[in-house]
Parts: sequence; C-alpha cells; structure tokens
Amino acid sequence: MPRLTDPLEVKSLKLRNRLVMAPMVTGLAIDHSPSKAQIAWYTEHAKKGLGLVIVESCGIDPNAIIMPNMLGIWDDRFIPGLTHLSSAIHAEGVPVVLQIVHGGARSIREDLRVERLGPSNIPVLPGPAPRPMTENEILEVIQSFVKAALRAKQAGFDGVEIHAAHYYLLSEFLSPYTNRRIDAWGGSLENRARLSIEVVKAVREAVGPDFPLFCRMHAVEFVEGGLDENDSRLIAKALMEAGVDILNASGVGQSSKGEWEGQAYLNTSSVLPKSMPPGTFAPYTERIRTGLGVPVIAVGKMAEKGVAQQVLDRDQADLIAIARQLIADPETIVKILSGREDEITRCKECLACFAAIRKGAIKCSVNTEL
Ligand SMILES: Cc1cc2nc3c(=O)[nH]c(=O)nc-3n(C[C@H](O)[C@H](O)[C@H](O)COP(=O)(O)O)c2cc1C
Repeated sequence: MPRLTDPLEVKSLKLRNRLVMAPMVTGLAIDHSPSKAQIAWYTEHAKKGLGLVIVESCGIDPNAIIMPNMLGIWDDRFIPGLTHLSSAIHAEGVPVVLQIVHGGARSIREDLRVERLGPSNIPVLPGPAPRPMTENEILEVIQSFVKAALRAKQAGFDGVEIHAAHYYLLSEFLSPYTNRRIDAWGGSLENRARLSIEVVKAVREAVGPDFPLFCRMHAVEFVEGGLDENDSRLIAKALMEAGVDILNASGVGQSSKGEWEGQAYLNTSSVLPKSMPPGTFAPYTERIRTGLGVPVIAVGKMAEKGVAQQVLDRDQADLIAIARQLIADPETIVKILSGREDEITRCKECLACFAAIRKGAIKCSVNTEL
C-alpha cells in the first residue's frame, strides 16, 4: 500500500506525495481574475509540502458562475492572470490543475428572477425553477468547456479538472433527481451521462492525448432520488474510457428541502455533516475505484488523525484531498508530513467559510487572521 509520502506519476504530472489541496472557492478574485491576495493564498499553501494543488472552480460562462468573486475563463483576457497564478504555484515546486465549471441551475443571480438553465425545471436554489436547456444550448456548453480547457493549458496549468459534481450543470444532468428529460440527454443512465462524456471526449480531443485530465464526480449522493452508487461506478468507468486520467471522487454529504415562494427546492452540500465521521465517503470511493485502472482522489474530513493513511492502506483511494482543514490551520500539511497531527488546530465545521464566499472573500472562525 502506498504511504502518504509516496510520489505518483500520471502522464506529465509528477506528484511528490499523495496530499492534494481540494478545490475551494476563495472569493478573492477581482473581476473574475486572480487578485494578489489570491495568488498569495495559493503560494502560501504550495509552500507547505502539498503533492498537488487543484485551483478552485473557474467559470466557463459569465451567465453560469457559482459565487460572486470567483475566477473566470470564458474569454482569452483571463489567460495572463491565470498564467500568473499557475507560475506562482509552480515556483514552489508544486503541480497545479484548474477546475472548470458551469453552474447550471445553481448559477448565482443577484436578481433571483433572471433565468437559470438546467436539464429540467427542478430548482436547486431559491428562485424560479430553471428552464430546461435546448439541444443547441447543450452543444454550446460542450464547446465552452473545450475553450476553457484550452485556455487553462495555455495559461500553464498542468491539467484541467471538469467539475461534474455538487449539483452544478454536469452533475444535474447525471442525477435522476434533476434530470427528468425524455430526449437523448435524459432518462437512462447512458443518456444522463451523455453530456459529461461528450464534454470529456471533446476536451480530450482538443487538449491532446498527453494533457492530464481530471473529472470530479460523486461517489455517493445522500439525496433521496439522486444518483445511486451503482450508477456512480458505471459513470466513473465511462469517464475513464472517454479520456479521464484521474477521478476526483466527491459526494453530496447532506441534502434538505428549502422553500421559495411556496415552491420546494433541493439544497445540497459537498461537506459531510458534523454527525458523520471522517472517511464516510471512502467506502463509496473504493467502489468506483475498484478495477477502474486510473488513480482516484478521496475527500471528506481526511485530515483527522490517521484517516488519510488508513484510506490508502485500505486501498480505497490513491490520493487524499483536504479542504476546510487547510483553511483552519494552513500548517496542516506540514504537521501531517512531520507526524505532528496532534498539533493541528482543528476546523470546527461551522461552515463560516461557505457563508463568507457567498458574499465576498473567504473567512474562518478558527483562523481569524485569514
Ligand atoms: C469554502 C469552500 C469552497 C469550496 N469550493 C469548491 C470548489 O470550488 N470546487 C469543488 O469541487 N469543491 C469545492 N468545495 C468542496 C471541497 O473541495 C471538499 O470537497 C469539501 O469541503 C469536503 O472536504 P473537507 O471535509 O476536507 O472540507 C469547497 C469547500 C469549501 C469549504
């Protein structure tokens, strides 16, 4: 079994260890380009010994962003700023991948009444139900992903991650809860997976065979009527066959129903609730990984003592991604790598970070100096 400190090579990517900075919107972008503070944030984290940085969600369409101050990549004008960001992380000796996203029915709108698009008219945020996309709009999304991936490559990133998780557009197409279409893009698993697969194939074709391609998807959804775990296994295999080199396995840790003007909407969260222990996603991650043949990243409170190594020991994943704990204690990676896990200042799981990025820059109730 690999140790956390073992290197891993995938195509041109050379990871010095198995610890990955999970993608996290920081709300630090200015006009959707990396700010100085944002570059400093990533540089500081890259100094701590990480094997890989996955830079936060970057929007492929100005009408489908997921947070107000997020990065954008829908135009060539973003390339110089993103090049700055990738170079700063490279200067610390760490490979860096950029995550790209279409917000779909979870796109933010200051005016709730502005139209959102989705596979079907199932709301996943407050506001009117999304409008089901036309076939042409679906085909345009594929092209937007392709252009975004090419820009990421041009901006010096070592790879690109297609975001097909967290009930953003691709994930909405995958899930039978949000995808009620009866055309070629909905219904059977094959049809629901069609958009993600077409995006992966088109991006692979555009970036060439050697450019590392990641995809983030759900190993499990704790959502009634959502994607089931057997589907996840088949989707993972299809994504791999379409050209994905590394699968970043996430999940919906909790879901609930909200109400807006008398209409129910689905609320989902990528984090495990406080009541669920570290490693809750890991057995599901193992299921999609078994026999897959490409490395898989696990996530979900992985910085708890001994958990990350245990997940590797149990053959449940190849890489370990950490999110909130890196915000609460930026020395987390140093402490894990030097066997000082007892000294980690623990994340309180209060979700102040999430609340903050919905309005502006990231904040933390533990790391108040942020
Ligand atoms: C503030 C914040 C921003 C996040 N932004 C993203 C994102 O941009 N893309 C993504 O795929 N996941 C995002 N996530 C989810 C994390 O990558 C991760 O899957 C989740 O927090 C669970 O890991 P943890 O238990 O280590 O926090 C975000 C999480 C937080 C807390």
